[in-house]
Amino acid sequence: MSGIKGKVCIITGSNSGIGKETALALAGMGATVVMVVRNKERGEAARMDIVRGTDNGAIDLMICDLSSVESIKMFAGAFKDKYDKLHVLINNAGAVYDVRQVTVDGFERTLAVNYLAPFLLTHELLPLLKASAPSRVINITSGLHTSGKVDLDDLQSGKGYEAMKVYANAKLMVLMFTYELARRLEGTGVTANVVHPGFAATNLGRNAGSLRSSLMFMMVRPMQSSAKKAAETSVYLASSPAVEGVSGKYFRRKQEATSSPISYDEHIQKNLWDATAALLGLEDQGSK
Ligand SMILES: NC(=O)c1ccc[n+]([C@@H]2O[C@H](COP(=O)([O-])OP(=O)(O)OC[C@H]3O[C@@H](n4cnc5c(N)ncnc54)[C@H](OP(=O)(O)O)[C@@H]3O)[C@@H](O)[C@H]2O)c1
Repeated sequence: MSGIKGKVCIITGSNSGIGKETALALAGMGATVVMVVRNKERGEAARMDIVRGTDNGAIDLMICDLSSVESIKMFAGAFKDKYDKLHVLINNAGAVYDVRQVTVDGFERTLAVNYLAPFLLTHELLPLLKASAPSRVINITSGLHTSGKVDLDDLQSGKGYEAMKVYANAKLMVLMFTYELARRLEGTGVTANVVHPGFAATNLGRNAGSLRSSLMFMMVRPMQSSAKKAAETSVYLASSPAVEGVSGKYFRRKQEATSSPISYDEHIQKNLWDATAALLGLEDQGSK
């Protein structure tokens, strides 16, 4: 991929926080930015901010509720009808829900938005990413993944739900998915990397209202940077020639880093992939 100018980039959750800053930065570099949001009004307001801030008219807004399988498939279909290239997919959207909720598909919502959605959306868009190669998938995890676990017998947290634990588990799964994806994509020209953006003051904690979750967000507050700063690693991975061909890596502060030991367990990665594909009813599991 030579330069980001004119390249087509999808950024989910780009009406707010780190996603909006990522969209702003890539738009400033001349990319064609497709902002994927669930709320049209909030999305349009952010889109206008970005158009005004960059003078880049190639900023599109498309609607998708990432907690719904049908909505993800509809968005992917609409995107493929509209665009014949996809160079960068940034699975940025995320959320934490204080109380266990179930999506329209019967999935636990924190898992659905943070993990199942990137898995499914990437799967839906992989043929186009491959056809547009060199291209890049960038997933967003969190430093909190270090306390995460993968319980294949209880992916839906039916045995008990604690918001921050379930969020940490989902972010660990994002890492493991990325590592497995990168292996499956070897030789295709599509890279897959994963980012911890750092702790930033955004809207993220807004649905995590319990005392325990609020304390967690309060504890990380002194470590928080701006959303702009937190977006830098995603922007770097999307646009820098320095990471051309680099795949299957975890990045913090624009540098390769080491994720938790369990995240590198290829046996669990494979089992998790199969369990997720089965949950989502996917047959072609995104391999070569
Ligand atoms: N902030 C941090 O300290 C931190 C640290 C580590 C990792 N992260 C990760 O960074 C990413 C960005 O988060 P942020 O901090 O920028 O939080 P944010 O300001 O709350 O942004 C999250 C974005 O995700 C969108 N989203 C949530 N649920 C969605 C759904 N069902 N369908 C479509 N979009 C949905 C939100 O849309 P609405 O505005 O419509 O809700 C929003 O645009 C997340 O993956 C988060 O887990 C953040």
